[in-house]
Amino acid sequence: MLGPVILAASRSDKMRRFVSSAPGTKQVVDRFIAGETVDDVLPVVQDAAAKGLEVTLDVVGEDITTREQAAAARDAYLELIDRLRDLGLGTRAEMSVKLSMFGQALEGGHELALANVRAVVEAAAAIGTTVTLDAEDHTTLDSMFAIHEELRKDFPGTGCVIQSYLFRTEDDARRLAASGSRVRLVKGAYKEPASVAFQDKAEIDKAYVRILKILMEGEGYPMIGTHDPRIISIAQELARRAGRKLDEYEFQMLYGIRSDEHLRLAAEGHRMRVYTAYGTDWYGYFMRRLAEKPANLLFFVRSMITK
Ligand code: FDA
Repeated sequence: MLGPVILAASRSDKMRRFVSSAPGTKQVVDRFIAGETVDDVLPVVQDAAAKGLEVTLDVVGEDITTREQAAAARDAYLELIDRLRDLGLGTRAEMSVKLSMFGQALEGGHELALANVRAVVEAAAAIGTTVTLDAEDHTTLDSMFAIHEELRKDFPGTGCVIQSYLFRTEDDARRLAASGSRVRLVKGAYKEPASVAFQDKAEIDKAYVRILKILMEGEGYPMIGTHDPRIISIAQELARRAGRKLDEYEFQMLYGIRSDEHLRLAAEGHRMRVYTAYGTDWYGYFMRRLAEKPANLLFFVRSMITK
């Protein structure tokens, strides 16, 4: 019940101001956000690499309102890529981007987001790595998939995310699997209406398994984005049945969530990539993490009271 309320609050400026300035917030935010600057996040990448983990890096931010902010978002990724190159970390780290941060919702936003993200994809390719386009709310997805297709003409390794809670996703998965894409499958983290998305957790989980089967049996590279232990073992079984070797798919989890499981899967020989978010505009990302697990909200409220 609490999840939808928290997701609604994630779009409120008033709540943003309240949460951002509340005592105790930082302590809880730090669990999910790996620092505010590139200098903060690079040691996290190095530490992950030393433990046999890969990362996908997200400079947090979304729903920007000016072209200047979109250009600044692009430049933040370009700086990150430069620093990864200097440290020789290009092959351990890929990038995750939200097109709304690159200007997708502005006037002429589709072209603007494409131009901004293309610069990031080019820079990533130059250091031997790739970019994955995150999935945001359902109204943005046609544009996201079109940008993904366009980028793949020159950079076939560009990935995208699909969400099992959406009715459309089985069809998207079939198309992407046939074209050999890198595809991250997640359950979905936004507040979506019943006209486009399953509302019931059991339905979302069942859809996840159906879609994963399509990806595993297809031509692409499945990236299994979940912390759900049941789905992780089903994924292992589906990969085995599809005759996939360990380097023909990967698991992905979020920084700060089930960290022991990251290490366990890596120790079993799986490729495990940790989605590592950093930056100052963490509000939307943080609120989605609270919405996923109400216990996080209790922890947050307790840390505010005890400050
Ligand atoms: P589920 O919610 O059933 O959780 C399974 C278990 O994991 C829980 O019982 C709990 O133990 C643990 N857990 C899950 N979330 C937790 C949290 N916040 N705090 C503490 N424990 C938690 N979504 C989206 O819409 N677009 C996107 O681009 C992405 N990108 C993305 C990348 C990666 C690598 C991951 C792992 C996830 C995303 N997501 C996403 C988020 C995704 O849609 C989903 O909301 C979360 O992964 C939670 O769903 P689970 O599959 O983990 O299952």
